Amino acid sequence: MNNFKQAPLPFQGQKRRFLKAFNQALNSFSKDATYVDLFGGSGLLAHTVKKKYPNARVIWNDYDNFKQRLEAIPETNLLLQSLRNLLADYPRDKRITGIMREVVIKLIASHEKKYGYCDYITLSASLLFGGNYSTDLKDFSSKTFYNRIRLSDYNAEGFLKDVERIQVDYKKAYNDFKGDNTVFLVDPPYLTTDVSSYNSGAYWKLKDYLDVLNVLDASEYFYFTSNKSQIVELCEWIETRTLTGNPFEGSTMTTTGNKVNYNSGYTDIMLYKNE
Ligand SMILES: C[S@@+](CC[C@H](N)C(=O)[O-])C[C@H]1O[C@@H](n2cnc3c(N)ncnc32)[C@H](O)[C@@H]1O
Repeated sequence: MNNFKQAPLPFQGQKRRFLKAFNQALNSFSKDATYVDLFGGSGLLAHTVKKKYPNARVIWNDYDNFKQRLEAIPETNLLLQSLRNLLADYPRDKRITGIMREVVIKLIASHEKKYGYCDYITLSASLLFGGNYSTDLKDFSSKTFYNRIRLSDYNAEGFLKDVERIQVDYKKAYNDFKGDNTVFLVDPPYLTTDVSSYNSGAYWKLKDYLDVLNVLDASEYFYFTSNKSQIVELCEWIETRTLTGNPFEGSTMTTTGNKVNYNSGYTDIMLYKNE
């Protein structure tokens, strides 16, 4: 099994910067436990566990169908090679405009037609600027292109060898595997983070985020979050409170809509309660 230090294809939110610390922390976990990567994403954490503990049972929850992108690597490499040839004399990192831009779009469209699939996320990393992702041709064609095509082919050989794949909501995976000798890897979408490159697409709200904490109760786990979500602070605050129940229970809610511009706005909320 090759050792991957990052996901074999671009994947937003992959835990490559945590791999060293994750590897070290794994030393205090069992070599033959069942590890369930509930929010599997690119599979990088599942790969890392299997590489370290080959006898462990490792389950990757591929909610995004990353497998489809992995399987398409040979065709993705062909497309990138054609783009490299096309842009051979084009300066690197330079904006692609005019006829060249049209030819790039045509090439991508005919690739998708021929293979019935195109990995737009990988393509985004090659032609769009930092952190910009598209998942279909229409959206992709509306973006500004830059010549940032990676020079070598992608290769995922052996990446998830002997890792078991499932594709379900994390709550089901948790219920199916909870029990002794199970370690959950819990890396949900971050609150307030752009999730447009995930297949789920849906925006995660505070409630969804808090629901995830249920899987930590009485489990062995790794949990990933960011300071933006302030979830750890929230839990610490709750611990200092004797209050139980919902402090807003019995109150009345009034809302006012506020427009920021023609397509966005927010809602202010007033809650009141008297005896
Ligand atoms: C931060 S990413 C995980 C990244 C992963 N640890 C890695 O290193 O590549 C969060 C993942 O959770 C997935 N997800 C969203 N909703 C989910 C759900 N209800 N059940 C399981 N996974 C979900 C997202 O699509 C995304 O792939």
